[in-house]
Amino acid sequence: MALNDNRRVIALADSAALATFAADRIVARIGANPGRAAICLTGGSSPKRLYELLATTNYRSRIPWDHVDWFIGDERFVAADDPLNNMAMARRLLLDRCAPACNIHPIPTDAADPEDAAHRYESELKSYYGANRLNPVRALFDVVLMGVGPDGHIASLFPNFPAIEETERWVVGVPKANVEPFVPRVTLTLAALNSSREMLFEVAGADKREILTRVFDGEDLPANRVCATGDTVWLVDRAALPENFPAHEVPCALVVMGVSGSGKSTIADALAKRLGWRCEDGDKFHPARNVAKMSAGQPLTDEDRWPWLQAIADEIDRSCKTGERVVVACSALKRAYRNILVHGRNDVRFVFLDGTEALIAGRLAARKGHFMPPGLLTSQFKTLEPPAADERPLTVSIDAPVGAIVDDIIRQLTPGPA
Ligand code: 6PG
Repeated sequence: MALNDNRRVIALADSAALATFAADRIVARIGANPGRAAICLTGGSSPKRLYELLATTNYRSRIPWDHVDWFIGDERFVAADDPLNNMAMARRLLLDRCAPACNIHPIPTDAADPEDAAHRYESELKSYYGANRLNPVRALFDVVLMGVGPDGHIASLFPNFPAIEETERWVVGVPKANVEPFVPRVTLTLAALNSSREMLFEVAGADKREILTRVFDGEDLPANRVCATGDTVWLVDRAALPENFPAHEVPCALVVMGVSGSGKSTIADALAKRLGWRCEDGDKFHPARNVAKMSAGQPLTDEDRWPWLQAIADEIDRSCKTGERVVVACSALKRAYRNILVHGRNDVRFVFLDGTEALIAGRLAARKGHFMPPGLLTSQFKTLEPPAADERPLTVSIDAPVGAIVDDIIRQLTPGPA
């Protein structure tokens, strides 16, 4: 797999999880820009869920609509209200409900022909950007959304068509499409699309697996020619993910570990929701005699723990076998415990919630009504053997809000090439 640039591939459960992830990224990018933010939308069917999601109260209330401009990466040269029109879809599902009309920048398909439309849109982009040349350190867009077509095209840049080689123009006309719908197109060029702080691909469904395999194999396709000046992120669902994709990049189980009070259940739950995986509380797998012992206030011995850990390991095996993915919250403080959970699998990874004793003690003290026997936290820290490098842990600092911790885990889960 030739991921020879700054790409990151993020594997998520399904198109709903993709839409949530993309919506969070867009909101984050808009929030990070103190001035006006520019978002370049895409057509096709992939972004529909995302547009619908951004229009829901939860997301729309977090977007400063007056300060965001909405562009489109390519357009079918059909009337503005034609069902094939890309911006018409974005308007119907999102923009007409939320954005001021003057912040919506469609490609003008009432132009004489696609070339004329391209020139007009290029002028509009240049006047918005305030310069005729793109400055590599000042991106045109905050986010560029992308889909990939069955022939590896992106926007309306088709393989072996002249438009893909264009280096000067920002927008060009494409007289004939390579795939359906066979209508002339207008497309932003690589120069314009790459001028982005973040490029977000959304790729979902089994029918994308073949083209994604070719893309990740490094074939010379338009999808392999784009590369944002900032991050290029491929959000891929389980059905589209190529079969030969290295298994360790998409673990089948994540065990969220750490001392009592480090937030295992909260993080495991939020992480599972974000990934669209099942969440299990490790404590549920204790045999009855352990439960009885704990209820009687007696500490567990390691002999008590082995069957419990084995039961979790069995559950992980069972899930992985059926293709289900699972997040388990389990303290797993010692390496010997973790060895039972992993038992040689390379698709079980630990998320280590790292925080100091003082931080956790402070949080516990602040939690109203929470009681932890004195000394328990200290003894947890004494027992803790932080995972070693060869265990390939995803170590995250818990000194951050839950959403940021989950972002950090997902970022580490899907590293770009070293
Ligand atoms: C278009 C697009 C195009 C699209 C891909 C993926 O006008 O069709 O902008 O580049 O993003 O073909 O399309 P789907 O999302 O429908 O798979």
